[in-house]
Amino acid sequence: MGNSSGMNSNTTAEQAALDIDLNGKISIVTGANSGLGKETSRVLAKHNATVIMACRSLERANEAKKEIVTDLKASNPNFDENKLKVMILDLSSLKSVKEFVINFTKEYNQLDYLIANAGLVSTTYETTTDGYEIQFGSNHLGHFYLTLLLTNVLKQSKPSRVVVLTSEFLGQAPNGFVDVIKDYIEKSNGPAKQHNNTGMENYSISKACNMLFAREYNRRYQSQGITCVSLHPGVILTNSQKNLPTWMKAVLKSPIARPFLKTVGQGAATTIRCCSFKDNEIQGGHYYKDCNDATAQLPRQFRVDGDYNTFTDQQVKNDQAYLLWQLSEKLITQKSFTFNLNDNSNEEQKSNDVNANYNANIATSTVTANTSTNSTENTTNANTNDNYGNQTIEEQQ
Ligand SMILES: NC(=O)c1ccc[n+]([C@@H]2O[C@H](COP(=O)([O-])OP(=O)(O)OC[C@H]3O[C@@H](n4cnc5c(N)ncnc54)[C@H](OP(=O)(O)O)[C@@H]3O)[C@@H](O)[C@H]2O)c1
Repeated sequence: MGNSSGMNSNTTAEQAALDIDLNGKISIVTGANSGLGKETSRVLAKHNATVIMACRSLERANEAKKEIVTDLKASNPNFDENKLKVMILDLSSLKSVKEFVINFTKEYNQLDYLIANAGLVSTTYETTTDGYEIQFGSNHLGHFYLTLLLTNVLKQSKPSRVVVLTSEFLGQAPNGFVDVIKDYIEKSNGPAKQHNNTGMENYSISKACNMLFAREYNRRYQSQGITCVSLHPGVILTNSQKNLPTWMKAVLKSPIARPFLKTVGQGAATTIRCCSFKDNEIQGGHYYKDCNDATAQLPRQFRVDGDYNTFTDQQVKNDQAYLLWQLSEKLITQKSFTFNLNDNSNEEQKSNDVNANYNANIATSTVTANTSTNSTENTTNANTNDNYGNQTIEEQQ
């Protein structure tokens, strides 16, 4: 859609919220204790949503919650602080992700907005608890697993939304990204060491994966009532710069950078806009920036000709977003983690048969053609596994 709202890079999260009333809506914001996640949580709660602040440090999360409550009570003494709830989530541990979802679904059987906001930058090679490169493992794989485990509750809450924070830095991902993913599939791993001079290659890869994940998740689930988009928030001075190379930090803090920087309020605006869009306004699978659809501005290698949501099976199968999905499933299951919430017995101890079975499936996997005879319906079912986060409402309660 065009910029009919008049919103742009100067718009703040408060302005992007318009006059939406989110009373009765449940949201999860990952990385809610600082920067953009904290502001997103504040604005969602201000508009009456229940916000689960999903953070890895209880202490930092409670501190952030206290600050938000103080702020909101200043303008509304009746603000109910129970609207903000802290829950532990460490995206660098698949076990923690699963425990978070189990805990969440014990308390809630509804999820209207999942904001995949958390992210970290690292210029050294570090790994997650499960042994994957830390930025790919946390920024992408942790959110991939989280979203899939929450899919059942997102479906039950339709229309629901998944909003994924990526970055313009995805443009620094290696050329021929589709081959990079094929290489990871072959080696059954993610990124290894950095290959570029800035030390930001693995961050860029993780952010390219965020965008591709949103595209493929939307293709699979839009017809079931879940809309998923990705967004670049702008460039905002937050804790995320703490691990940047020194020269890059100096540039960002210099007067030259000032005109290009956003405030935290402006930085959270596109996230909030992706929540305030009406269902018939938001473009599922698209990439947003400055409160508007910016899919056409993606680097060439990440653009597709036509509408990805209506690609033929063969087109989907060749796309990097589909390949990334297969890789991500493989990286999770080869560590013996499952997509079934009821199956939590000693995941790490389970036999490597899971891996062998998965490899066999990948080898024989074919895209399931949509057998619909309705010629106007051109959507594909390419390998959609519908059992993610499988748990009935009764089991959740
Ligand atoms: N700021 C920018 O200029 C910019 C530009 C483009 C994209 N982005 C994206 O915007 C998002 C928010 O970043 P920000 O600028 O607000 O940075 P931030 O202030 O550093 O916030 C990042 C949040 O992610 C959390 N986090 C990191 N690793 C985690 C893990 N393993 N498990 C759970 N939470 C984890 C952090 O928790 P701790 O406090 O415990 O570390 C923090 O709450 C990120 O996805 C980032 O890539 C930011």
